[in-house]
Amino acid sequence: MTRLTAEQVLDIPGKIKEFDRQLLKKTGCSLKELALDVVAPALTPAAVPLNPAACPVAIIPITAGAGTIKGFSEALCAVAAYLGFPAFITKVSDVAGLARAYQGNASIALMADDYLYAAINLKTRRVVGNDEATAKGYTAALGKMAGGIAGKEVLLIGLGPLGVAAAQALLQEGAGLIFYDLVREKEAALFKSCTGEEQQRITIGLSLEQALARTCLIYDASSGSAFIPAAWLPASAIVSAPGLPLGLDSMAAQKVADRLIHEPLQIGTAVMLFQALS
Ligand SMILES: NC(=O)c1ccc[n+]([C@@H]2O[C@H](COP(=O)([O-])OP(=O)(O)OC[C@H]3O[C@@H](n4cnc5c(N)ncnc54)[C@H](O)[C@@H]3O)[C@@H](O)[C@H]2O)c1
Repeated sequence: MTRLTAEQVLDIPGKIKEFDRQLLKKTGCSLKELALDVVAPALTPAAVPLNPAACPVAIIPITAGAGTIKGFSEALCAVAAYLGFPAFITKVSDVAGLARAYQGNASIALMADDYLYAAINLKTRRVVGNDEATAKGYTAALGKMAGGIAGKEVLLIGLGPLGVAAAQALLQEGAGLIFYDLVREKEAALFKSCTGEEQQRITIGLSLEQALARTCLIYDASSGSAFIPAAWLPASAIVSAPGLPLGLDSMAAQKVADRLIHEPLQIGTAVMLFQALS
């Protein structure tokens, strides 16, 4: 898991409302609706029997490994509160923080170290990891922007843990996939781990330029920066990009501005919270 930086998270609390407005404009769904769509796709928000107001969320700072990231806990707290969860950051960290979460009667604990960012339902013991939640949230966002992805081909760039989770989510939605990773062996390895039926929907071994010429649906789960030039990007490209930093170069990002979802943690955290609650 690549660590977030303070610069990536510091302005999340102040900009979450605007982020949600943009998400609604691009996908037709608010952050809450998108998360609920992952958790309970057939239900409208009003009909979903999930009540965030009754489920306090404790955010526990963890100092292990490389330590806490400035603004990270505050960003998680802002996202949870925005979604209607009573949320608090424990005043103490690590084990003492977990104890405070229980003492404060929290329903869900959110915590992250250098390896795992997880939401843990302290009452039901359900554990939700960020990779899976982010993968599903961005798959839902791509589907909303594209009017569905079943039967369509998606270029999945970056096959680390997030990309592997994204492949599962995209295949589950019925998409065909082109795998692309800078480390080309990862394409064959992930292909081999898929079922025979899934393999029939997967293409590997194309260059990035060839892959971009074949589809306008792009899922960037890579850690690469600005390696996708505007000239290679189809005019009608739709891009779901959880990977940090953004793989599109600045001109490519401008080209798809209204059809690009890219942010560092709001979508993943929203899906984690509602999955943990469900
Ligand atoms: N937005 C979010 O909510 C969110 C959530 C989880 C992870 N992330 C970010 O997503 C990225 C991927 O996460 P991960 O844990 O899988 O990281 P990882 O570093 O384990 O994997 C990244 C993969 O991208 C590939 N890659 C790098 N540059 C590339 C390029 N130019 N072309 C093609 N492939 C390239 C690498 O070879 C690697 O396989 C990280 O940057 C992480 O910070 C974002």
